[in-house]
Order: sequence, then C-alpha cells, then structure tokens
Amino acid sequence: MNSLDNKQNLIVLAIESSCDETACAIVKNGREVLANVIATQIEIHRRFGGVVPEIASRNHTLAIENVVKEALSQANMTKDDIDAIAVTYGAGLLGALLVGVNFAKALAYAWHKPLFAVSHIRGHIAANYIDSALEPPYLCLLASGGHTAIVKVEDYSTLKLLGQSKDDAAGEAFDKVARVLGLPYPGGPEIEKLAKEGQARFDCPLPHHTNELYFSYSGLKTYVINLVHNLEQKGEEIPKADVAASFQKAAVAQLVDVLSRAIHDTGIKTIAVAGGVSANAALRAEFDRLGREGCDVHYPKLKYCTDNAAMIGAEAYNLIRTGAQPADLDLDASATVSIV
Ligand code: KG4
Ligand code: ZN
Repeated sequence: MNSLDNKQNLIVLAIESSCDETACAIVKNGREVLANVIATQIEIHRRFGGVVPEIASRNHTLAIENVVKEALSQANMTKDDIDAIAVTYGAGLLGALLVGVNFAKALAYAWHKPLFAVSHIRGHIAANYIDSALEPPYLCLLASGGHTAIVKVEDYSTLKLLGQSKDDAAGEAFDKVARVLGLPYPGGPEIEKLAKEGQARFDCPLPHHTNELYFSYSGLKTYVINLVHNLEQKGEEIPKADVAASFQKAAVAQLVDVLSRAIHDTGIKTIAVAGGVSANAALRAEFDRLGREGCDVHYPKLKYCTDNAAMIGAEAYNLIRTGAQPADLDLDASATVSIV
C-alpha cells in the first residue's frame, strides 16, 4: 500500500544520470511516454575513448535543470500534474548518480511529491513495457555495458536471476574490441556499422557448453585482441570489417544460445531483451528468428534500449503499483546493485 493507490492514472517524472546521459522523462501509467529528454555527453567523452567519471558528474550538474524543464514543457505540464518523482539510485558512476539523486530529492521535497528509488538494471528491463502490452511471466536477456544475464520476470516485482556473465559484459566486450580496432566510443554501434561491410571469416571461440546457464566474454575479447596484434606484428593490414563481423557474430550467437537454453529449461516462450546491446540489429534479427520459431518476442524501441529516463518511469510505476514505499530523503546512490 502507498499513498498513490487510489489514483487511476499515475504520472511519474523520472530522472536518470547513472553514466553519460542526463535524462528526464514523464511517463503515464508506466507505458505511455509523455516526454523523453536526453542530454548526451558522448561527444565530450569520445576524445578520451570512454566515460571520465568526474567530467560526467560536472556535465550532469550543468544539464539537469534544463533537462527537467524541457521534459515538463514537452509534456505541456507543471509540477501540479506530477504524482511522483523517480530516480535511478544505482548501478552506475557514483558521482554521476548523486547528481540525479540529489536533484530528485530536492524536487520531491519542494513539490511535496513521493520519491521512488529505481534500479537502473530493472529500468532497462521495464523499457519493454513502453508502448507495449507485454505482461509477465517472460524471460529477459539483459545485455548492457555493465551486465549480461538471463532474468526470469515472474511478475511486476519478482525477478529471478537464471544466469549471468562470469567475466565481461557483452557491451563491455563490444567497447573493448572497438577500441582495439581504433573505433570511437561507444564501440557497440561502431562495430555494428563496420560489421555490415565485412565477412565473418574468423572462427571466434564460444564458451564450452555446460548445463549451467552463464555467459563469458573474456575469451572472445582476448581472441580478437591477439588476432589484431598478431596481424600487426606481421605488418599486415587489419581487415577491420571482417574482424568486426566475426566478433559480432560470435557475441550475438552466445547471447542467443544461452537464452535458447533458458527457454528450453523453463518452457517460457515469451522473451524480451534489454540494455544497450539490445539496439544491435544482428541480435534483433536473431530474436526475429526465435519469433518465427514460435516465441512471443518483445524488444524496446531503439530509443529506449540505451540509457534513458522513460524506462525509469516505467519501472517506478511497477514499484508503485506493487506497493513499494517511497524513499526517504536520506536516499543514497549506490555504484553497484544486484541484478534482480
Ligand atoms: O545499457 P547501456 O546504454 O548502458 C549500461 O547500462 O551499461 O549500454 C551501453 C552498452 C555499451 O557497451 C554500448 O557499446 C552497447 O551498449 N551498445 C551496443 C549497441 N548500442 C549500444 N552494442 C552493440 N550494438 C549496438 N547497436
Ligand atoms: Zn544502462
């Protein structure tokens, strides 16, 4: 039970600042996005080859007020139309998270609204509810820059972890391979672009099959790094597009292989995908194939795959409707949170 139980329509203003996007969204009933504003810092961090935490925090501080104002203006709303504030409290860069958390606390206090603390990871999964009729139970393949896992979503509040990466996350592997190939940050979309021009002619390793559901990306990453270094040492030109295509094929095959085994083990045929890597067209093509083979397939719209605040608003709605209590004003940010 919470104070919002009697409201038929719930309007949540959500804030996200866990990495290099300052974002604010206004979401109705967890599924309808009334405003979605994202101030990205990608260009700022690109010259460093990755996100510099202190620079990210400073830029969040500069952007956040305008991003929230812009969201209210996009939705043609004022504070009086907002029922609750939601904010990502983790996982992410601590300094970056703190900017969003403190801004959200100040808004909640000044506007007399309840504040809900949302996990970034659960937010990615909840992106699947936006503009969709998806309902639990289903299996979600989570593939972001920080996490790779299979999550069984039993209902709107109960999530079970069926398997996860023993080492690198899938997105992290895309970023590291992109770096070795001299591609700009963030690596995932760059690898995807280059892979379209190449042939997957290198035989990249896949993890050994066991009965356990798990992912492992360090072997694949090391294979690609060694391949590139060996060619460099021989003075040969690096066939970058072919390397990108070979890596992407193996990376996607592993994601789909583990998910397929989870489908087989659980008998659950409704599947969804979440996190930045879910934007990858090769992965989405494999999901389409699973759809043709009898699965009920869901994925977020492209703009809700990578970091955004609409997904935080979607998950906040789940929290509110399943009776979660609002956070206190001593809410803290957390660099890590458990996947489920
Ligand atoms: O979910 P996300 O935006 O942030 C985290 O919560 O980590 O994921 C970012 C990750 C990065 O590693 C990025 O390279 C990857 O998602 N990514 C992609 C694509 N777009 C983003 N990976 C493969 N293909 C893409 N199109
Ligand atoms: Zn994310």
